[in-house]
Amino acid sequence: MTEKIPSFETERLIVREVREADGPAYEKYFVNYEVIRYLAAGVPWPYPKGSASEFIRTMIAPRQGIDKWMWAITLKESNCALIGAIELSREATPSNRGFWLGEPFWGKGYMMEAVSPVTDYAFEFLGFEKLIFANAVGNARSRRIKEKSGASFLRREPGSYMDPQFMETELFELTSDTWKARTLR
Ligand SMILES: CC(C)(COP(=O)(O)OP(=O)(O)OC[C@H]1O[C@@H](n2cnc3c(N)ncnc32)[C@H](O)[C@@H]1OP(=O)(O)O)[C@@H](O)C(=O)NCCC(=O)NCCS
Repeated sequence: MTEKIPSFETERLIVREVREADGPAYEKYFVNYEVIRYLAAGVPWPYPKGSASEFIRTMIAPRQGIDKWMWAITLKESNCALIGAIELSREATPSNRGFWLGEPFWGKGYMMEAVSPVTDYAFEFLGFEKLIFANAVGNARSRRIKEKSGASFLRREPGSYMDPQFMETELFELTSDTWKARTLR
């Protein structure tokens, strides 16, 4: 099958196009309240079994490489099985990027490793001049990824998340120039 979006290899990861066959691995890690509580309201919960494959087939595949780019984050050491996902959207709603990692894989710097080639691709090949990022106020790990990328804080606004204790969104902006200056350092 032809890939609609490129794969990237980093030190520990292969970041490759998400496939319908990733559904079971997707569900294994995504169906965890500790992961979804930080996501924007609207994720079906309790999560219906088999919905990840359907989501990839009906919501991602038709738009893949057109106005959405969704990659599976996989570990080289475990045969490239999905441990998380990262996606870009042409339209910022309110953000151009979403990501999550299975809880067993947090705190190892994997997401920072995954966002790096994806950000290069967004600026160098997809022609984004800036990317807008968002997270729930209180999602310190996600915020830290933005700070480490060199993104600038824009503002807070009301937001609605799976965990109703989060009621505000913080928005950040990363320009192509800032990213390139960072990667040249
Ligand atoms: C957000 C997420 C992808 C982060 O991925 P990760 O690779 O595990 O990131 P890390 O745990 O390595 O944390 C990244 C940075 O945050 C720091 N950090 C971790 N916990 C923190 C905390 N409680 N407070 C402040 N900083 C924290 C880490 O130290 C690291 O920074 P460093 O490299 O400078 O030390 C992951 O936690 C996740 O999937 N969360 C649930 C879903 C989610 O929130 N998605 C994003 C929605 S906007």
